[in-house]
Amino acid sequence: MDIPVGNRPLLDQLTGRPVSRRPIWLMRQAGRYLPEYRDLRARAGGFLDLCYTPEQAVEVTLQPLRRFDLDAAILFSDILVVPHGLGRDLRFEAGEGPRLEPIVPGDLPALDLAGMTARLAPVYEAVAGIRARLPAGITFVGFAGSPWTVACYMVEGRGSKDFAAARTMAQADSESFAHLVAILVEATVEHLSAQIEAGVDCVQLFDSWAGVLSPDQVRRWVIAPNAAIVRALRQRHPGVPVIGFPRMDGASLLAYAEEVPVSALGLDTAVDPQWAAAQLSGTLALQGNLDPTALIAGGPALDQAVDTILAAMAGRRHVMNLGHGIAQTTPVEHVERLIARVRHHDRGDGAGRDATTR
Ligand code: CP3
Repeated sequence: MDIPVGNRPLLDQLTGRPVSRRPIWLMRQAGRYLPEYRDLRARAGGFLDLCYTPEQAVEVTLQPLRRFDLDAAILFSDILVVPHGLGRDLRFEAGEGPRLEPIVPGDLPALDLAGMTARLAPVYEAVAGIRARLPAGITFVGFAGSPWTVACYMVEGRGSKDFAAARTMAQADSESFAHLVAILVEATVEHLSAQIEAGVDCVQLFDSWAGVLSPDQVRRWVIAPNAAIVRALRQRHPGVPVIGFPRMDGASLLAYAEEVPVSALGLDTAVDPQWAAAQLSGTLALQGNLDPTALIAGGPALDQAVDTILAAMAGRRHVMNLGHGIAQTTPVEHVERLIARVRHHDRGDGAGRDATTR
C-alpha cells in the first residue's frame, strides 16, 4: 500500500490505474523447466511435500523472479489442495499427474468444509512468507481452481482428455453434482479469502476444463459458480482484483465476460486476440495468450507470435502471459527472449506506449 500508484504494474493494470510498463507473468512460471526447481523437487521428495512445506514453497515461488524481469509472483501450490483440504485422498505419481479417490454421491456429507482452512494452514503460512520476502513492485497472485475443473478431477480421480465421467454425473445425477459444486463454491471462497488475508494482492480462478462443456452446461457449471465466487470475494475483500481464466472461446467466453464480474480475463491459446480485443468490454483487462509451444519453439516463430498479440492488444489494458501453463521442455533462454521482446516493443514508438499507458 505504501508503493506509489504506477509502480506495481500488474496490480495497477488490474485496477485500471496508470501503469509504468505492461505487466508480464507466466502461468506455471515456477516449475520443472527450471533446473533450480528440479533440484529442490528431487530433495523434497514429492510435489505435495513442496506445496505443504512453507520454506520450500516460498523458495520455489521466488525462483523465477531471480532469473527473469517479471511483474508477478504466483503462489506455488495446486488447485487440488482444495479437495485434499476437504478430506479427499490425493497423490501425485511421478510423471503421471494427480490421483484422487473418485468421489461418489455418498461421499458428499463427509466433505469437511469447516476443517479445510486448518488443514491448509501451511499454504497460508507460505503466502505470509512470500509476502515478507517479495520485492517492491512485484504483485502477488493467489489462485484456486474453479468448481467445475476441481470437480472434474474429484469425479474422474485423475486427468482426462474429455472428463466424460464428470460430464456424465453432471447430467445423470445433477442434484448430487450441484451439491458438490455448491460445496466447492464455498470452499473456494474460503481458500481465496485465507490467501488474501495472508497477503496475496489479487487472485486467479483457473477453469481449465470449461471448454469440454456444452453452452447450457457452461452456464450452469462454469458461469454461475464463478459469478457466485467473485461476488462473494468482492463483498469480503473489496478492491482485490480477480482474474478469470476459463479455458474456452466464442459465445461462451462472451457470456462469461458479461456475467462474471472479474477485473481481468485470461485468454486461452485458442482465442483470437484480435477478436477478443474487439468483442470484450474495454472495462476488462485482457491477459494472455501466447501459445506455450511458441515458447518452446523460440526464434522467429516466438517473435512473430508475440508481435501478433502485442498488435492485437494495442490500446487495451493488457497483461502479457501464456494461453496455458508453461511446458516442462521450455528453454529458459526463450523466456528471456519473450520478456526482452515485450519490453523492447513497449519502450519503442507510439503503438507500444499506447498499450501500456491505457
Ligand atoms: O503457476 C504456478 O507457477 C503456480 C503453481 C501451479 C501449479 N499448478 C503447480 C504444479 C498452478 C497455478 C497450478 C494449477 C493447476 N493444477 C491447474 C490449472 C491450470 C492448468 O494447468 O490447467 C490444474 C488443472 C492442476 C492440476 C495438476 N497439477 C495437474 C493436472 C498436474 C500434473 C500435470 C503436470 O503439469 O505435471 C499437476 C502437477 C503440478 N502442479 C506441477 C506443478 C509445478 C508439477 C509437479 C511436479 O513437480 O512433478
